[in-house]
Amino acid sequence: MIWQCPHCNHPLSLEKQNWRCSNGHSFDRAKEGYVNLLPVQQKRSREPGDSAEMLSARRRFLEAGYYLPLAEAICAQLLPIAGSGAPVLLDLGCGEGYYTRMLAEGGWPFGNIFGVDIAKAGIRLAAKKQPQAHFAVASSFHLPVADGSVDALLRVFAPGPAEELVRVLKPGGVLLDVSPGPDHLWSLKSHLYDTPQQHSAPKPVSGLTALRESRCTFTLAIAGNETVRDFLAMTPFAWTGRADARQSLEQQGTLRLEADFLLRCFAKPAAE
Ligand SMILES: C[S@@+](CC[C@H](N)C(=O)[O-])C[C@H]1O[C@@H](n2cnc3c(N)ncnc32)[C@H](O)[C@@H]1O
Ligand SMILES: [Zn+2]
Repeated sequence: MIWQCPHCNHPLSLEKQNWRCSNGHSFDRAKEGYVNLLPVQQKRSREPGDSAEMLSARRRFLEAGYYLPLAEAICAQLLPIAGSGAPVLLDLGCGEGYYTRMLAEGGWPFGNIFGVDIAKAGIRLAAKKQPQAHFAVASSFHLPVADGSVDALLRVFAPGPAEELVRVLKPGGVLLDVSPGPDHLWSLKSHLYDTPQQHSAPKPVSGLTALRESRCTFTLAIAGNETVRDFLAMTPFAWTGRADARQSLEQQGTLRLEADFLLRCFAKPAAE
């Protein structure tokens, strides 16, 4: 088990309905199966992370298959690792858990899938749908995860500092980082902003060796007012850009956009 106590860093083990460390710290297992490992002092607001509305909109949108090409590209990069023993996967900022579900469907061993997100609403949705996986409410900036315990890290449009990623990876373990490519949703941005900017190139991840980089591009044809609303709700466009332009998009009922994702794969150098 990779979970460790967020107060004293000792390993956690499940006793009845509680995760406990040897120093007597204890964390309830929620009825959906997840555990809240986010100490109050790490909470910057009452409900940190994406809101319940954003996460439900994301769930409906992703379940409709709109990002399937990205899910397939992620599976193509990570599933070859799944065949070697019982590797541990950790999804950082996993939201409602779409990519962990796709990886499980593709053959990643169920019990070796872990996900963290700072938004409790996301973790609750993820845990309900994937009861054999392990989910925790936690910050990627202070992962309640043992040193050198993870074979594969996934980070899709989510934060997480390099030092924490390097710390939790096993030597030889990999990070798959997905970020927006330069043209991601360009026509939507041109519609909503007076001076739209292309996404800039992401930074290297210090402490990890870059292995390969690829783009996943496809046309996103979104149909139906509700789906357009869900899509806008799960992006920063829900509250930025020109409100009148956003409303006209919602009423229009269809959107044709460029999806452009950059997939970067890194490895932690093997121990000498
Ligand atoms: C754009 S969403 C992506 C969610 C998911 N990876 C996906 O692609 O469906 C970013 C996610 O990062 C989470 N997040 C934001 N800050 C975080 C932090 N400090 N630690 C963990 N998760 C965080 C948000 O709650 C949200 O679910
Ligand atoms: Zn403890």
